[in-house]
Amino acid sequence: MVAKTIFGLEEILAKELADLGAQNIRTANRSVTFDGDKEILYKANLCLRTAGRVLVPLTTCKILKPDDLYKATRTVNWLDYLKADGRMIIDSVVNFNKSFKNSMYAAQLTKDAIVDQIRAKTGKRPSIDNTKPDIRINLHINKTDCSIALDSSGDPLNKRGYRTERTLAPLNECLAAGILKLCCYDGSRPLIDPMCGSGTFAIEAAMIALNRAPGLIRKNYAFMLWLDYEKGLYEKVKSDAEKKSHKSLRHPIIGSDRNKQVIEKAKTHAKRAGLQSIVKFEKMNIIDQIPPEGKGIAICNAPYGERLDEKEIEQLYTTIGDSFKHKYEGYDAYLFTGNLKAAKSVGLKTSQKIKLYNGQIECRLFKYEMYRGSKKFKPE
Ligand SMILES: C[S@@+](CC[C@H](N)C(=O)[O-])C[C@H]1O[C@@H](n2cnc3c(N)ncnc32)[C@H](O)[C@@H]1O
Repeated sequence: MVAKTIFGLEEILAKELADLGAQNIRTANRSVTFDGDKEILYKANLCLRTAGRVLVPLTTCKILKPDDLYKATRTVNWLDYLKADGRMIIDSVVNFNKSFKNSMYAAQLTKDAIVDQIRAKTGKRPSIDNTKPDIRINLHINKTDCSIALDSSGDPLNKRGYRTERTLAPLNECLAAGILKLCCYDGSRPLIDPMCGSGTFAIEAAMIALNRAPGLIRKNYAFMLWLDYEKGLYEKVKSDAEKKSHKSLRHPIIGSDRNKQVIEKAKTHAKRAGLQSIVKFEKMNIIDQIPPEGKGIAICNAPYGERLDEKEIEQLYTTIGDSFKHKYEGYDAYLFTGNLKAAKSVGLKTSQKIKLYNGQIECRLFKYEMYRGSKKFKPE
């Protein structure tokens, strides 16, 4: 199987898969391949925090001409996966292949091969259905390498089901969970996000701290419509996951933001996630925020500055650095940003820099260790 992820989170995802009991785990660029049975497949969808989707490969081939794709598609016995008059959707991505200038043509040819095979065997034909397909086929062509897989997730796994409100620049939930893991957050220390926006870090942190599977409130996965779906097995996987979830935190999790409206939205999200009594959200400027006592973790995803002028954004990042220096003694403070220039205005010595992407934007996760007497310093 293949679990897709975000650049920079491959090792974290591999560890998550190992913890679930997956076998033969191998990392690749933005994905991790692994072996496992149906139970592992269900667990992967329900429990992985850093995977975007989980694919079950059906075949791979080399594509030098269009007919290679048609023939490869017909090597799969599609009636194992789809009723003769069933409904399917084909998600296709084509990069750098001379035979296919666009992904639509590749998807069309794949559909033709499936329809021709099933019609020849049964006289009936499946159809394309973009809204309620029985199976979701993932076609990926990169140069001459092609893979055809079943997408077991459907909606991407970052759609946990708790985010309902629209806010500016919310973080992808898988990225937020991955960043928390990169910060070594496991619930054994206080956590604060003083620029929490819609609350993604705080909510994901609560699920990590409580050992709560991120998919527990989600109702649908694509595999639930598969011919071989075992409802009883999925329900067992889900109830095992529920039993492993703790009821309360050992250390506080706080999110704050200067914008009252986004705090209301963060509260709504926490409620939807069933975490309203677990995570505390408050309206507060980072300048006034005092973190909980103890050697905690502070994480903030500062604005990148699209809506601010250069002076304002530099001032904001200086304020972040000043707040970390004066109020976060004993903390590991992290800043996640796509504005690498503004990050210099934080003026603190970084002990770690990790490259990540937020969508297409190249970002960094900066770590500042705020031990007693941490110095502000002037970057060159
Ligand atoms: C990029 S957004 C955070 C998005 C968040 N990670 C999420 O997933 O929704 C940055 C947030 O910083 C907040 N902010 C900006 N300046 C602030 C300040 N001085 N004190 C507290 N919050 C601030 C903004 O209101 C905004 O919600």
